[in-house]
Amino acid sequence: MSIDMSTRIVVAIDGPAGAGKSTIARRVAERLGFIYIDTGAMYRAVALWALRTNVDLADMHRLEQLAIAASIELPPRSATVLLNGEDVTAAIREPAISPAASKVSAVPGVRRALVEKQRQMAAENSVVMEGRDIGTVVFPDAKVKIFLDADAETRTERRLRDLRERGATLAPEAVAQEVEERDQRDRTRAESPLVQAPDAVYIDSTSLTIEQVEEFILKIVRDRTSNGKGLRL
Ligand code: DC
Repeated sequence: MSIDMSTRIVVAIDGPAGAGKSTIARRVAERLGFIYIDTGAMYRAVALWALRTNVDLADMHRLEQLAIAASIELPPRSATVLLNGEDVTAAIREPAISPAASKVSAVPGVRRALVEKQRQMAAENSVVMEGRDIGTVVFPDAKVKIFLDADAETRTERRLRDLRERGATLAPEAVAQEVEERDQRDRTRAESPLVQAPDAVYIDSTSLTIEQVEEFILKIVRDRTSNGKGLRL
């Protein structure tokens, strides 16, 4: 797809766990030649560091300090996540990290620190950024905003498949419960809860293929950027 690259573009993709955000965001970024940024990986990295250093997940001050001090790198065009120079790509996907990341992400100081890092990452590049608050808080002026959803059963199935591919064996009921609890926490927290931005396009991916969602989002990008100007964020 040819897009005027003289102006930086942000494609914001938000939604609950298991909606397909990572798969879709990665593919859309590749098609557009944009950098893909998985902000969930950043909250996971802070959670991992907290668990490793025995920081109490209720200690908001210490968690904020960790988030400020953390060096988190997401090298472009790779799925690697580096925390303080260490490759933590696999470690942050361990089942115990998901609820911990959700808890850590409710701390306002942690969010402030990571949002700043996220804005820096997109300062000079067009990006596809996925998370929970990208279109509402991180880039409220993003040119393209997508809220990607799927029904609870589908989201649980996708999460279960993801975990199995990584070699984790968890009972379906446990995964269903994890997804439900995490979404409930992410949607009801006081600070930057998961909500659809008023100007986001809602996509229910329950009965769509990855290719269909991808094409739909690319069409929205095309429509919203076709006048070649006014792409400033
Ligand atoms: O996308 P994920 O499942 O890897 O994210 C892990 C947790 O991080 C998720 O439960 C909520 C939190 N998160 C957030 O609060 N804001 C974001 N922009 C991204 C993730």
